[in-house]
Amino acid sequence: MTARDDVTVEARDLRREFKTKGAPAMALEGISFKVKRGEIFGVLGPNGAGKTTTIRILSTLLLPTSGSAAVMGFDVEREPEKVRHVINMASGAEKAGYDFISAKRNLWFFSQLYGIESREAEKRIDDLAERLGLTKYLDRKFYALSTGYRQRATIARAFINEPRVVFLDEPTIGLDVMTARSIREFLEDEARKKDRTIMLATHNMAEVDAICDRVAIIDRGKIIAEGTPDELKRSMGVPALVMEVTPPAKGFEFLGQVAGVRGFTSTSDEERGLSTVQVVVQDDAAARRAEEAMSGSGHRIVASWRKETTLEEVFVGLVGQGFKEREEQGDGS
Ligand SMILES: Nc1ncnc2c1ncn2[C@@H]1O[C@H](COP(=O)(O)OP(=O)(O)O)[C@@H](O)[C@H]1O
Ligand SMILES: [Mg+2]
Repeated sequence: MTARDDVTVEARDLRREFKTKGAPAMALEGISFKVKRGEIFGVLGPNGAGKTTTIRILSTLLLPTSGSAAVMGFDVEREPEKVRHVINMASGAEKAGYDFISAKRNLWFFSQLYGIESREAEKRIDDLAERLGLTKYLDRKFYALSTGYRQRATIARAFINEPRVVFLDEPTIGLDVMTARSIREFLEDEARKKDRTIMLATHNMAEVDAICDRVAIIDRGKIIAEGTPDELKRSMGVPALVMEVTPPAKGFEFLGQVAGVRGFTSTSDEERGLSTVQVVVQDDAAARRAEEAMSGSGHRIVASWRKETTLEEVFVGLVGQGFKEREEQGDGS
């Protein structure tokens, strides 16, 4: 096998425009990447970054405006039925099931759309249910399942045809910690033991950190960084600076002017009378200058410490703002 056979998903300069009343909205401004067999590949970015658009193009639900993409060597635009044959897709935001039949019947129905032979379908349903902790709930009507179990059933559905590549759009959004964890364990198992490629769009950095082998960070339709989570964190150099300051405040814009400061985020806690400010710095000297600027601004630093870089800080380091600030600012660039 050549190295190329290991590439299961490839995007080449994908662009997607949406017509709107005003100027056309550019959801994707040319993204390229390769995903390898058995990888869990994360597409991480704030709301509006272009994650869902990417997933929809790769799973043949939407055409690109230009550029191309291939899944298992099949072109999504010219050979969509061949792509559909080897993939599956699920979204955490949509509820995908028929309300008035049981979870099991739902899975059965989808297995039959794929023409899976009855005995084999039964076996797969039992196995998926068992591994997703769904066994006890299989006979419940879909509508009567809690959000968490409905999502487990949705994930089971996405694996029923033993796809080579699975596209998941925010698979654990809105779920409790335990459910999210068991879904992640299941996904890791599928990738590691069955060599399935899983492409995961999410705005959850902890999720990417927990299970993704590699990640493309996307912002406003562009990939701004790509690598393993560790590589990306190391690329930021030194640990981030955290300061608790009083009185609490909304803006700390002056920090953006400090030499060597790459970006910052802040949250305020009125009850404790504090703001917590996280600053991504390029070196220790910049951290000291940030502390001086803070004191000089009339705030008192109650505590300050250094913290290992997280993916959130990687994003802050690259764009100067956190996900939250980016989303509040909207897409008017
Ligand atoms: N059908 C559509 N019509 C117009 N604009 C759209 C449509 N779908 C997505 N967009 C815009 O494209 C951008 C990317 O959207 P999306 O891919 O859903 O982002 P994400 O999944 O990262 O939140 C956003 O600015 C969004 O408003
Ligand atoms: Mg989305």
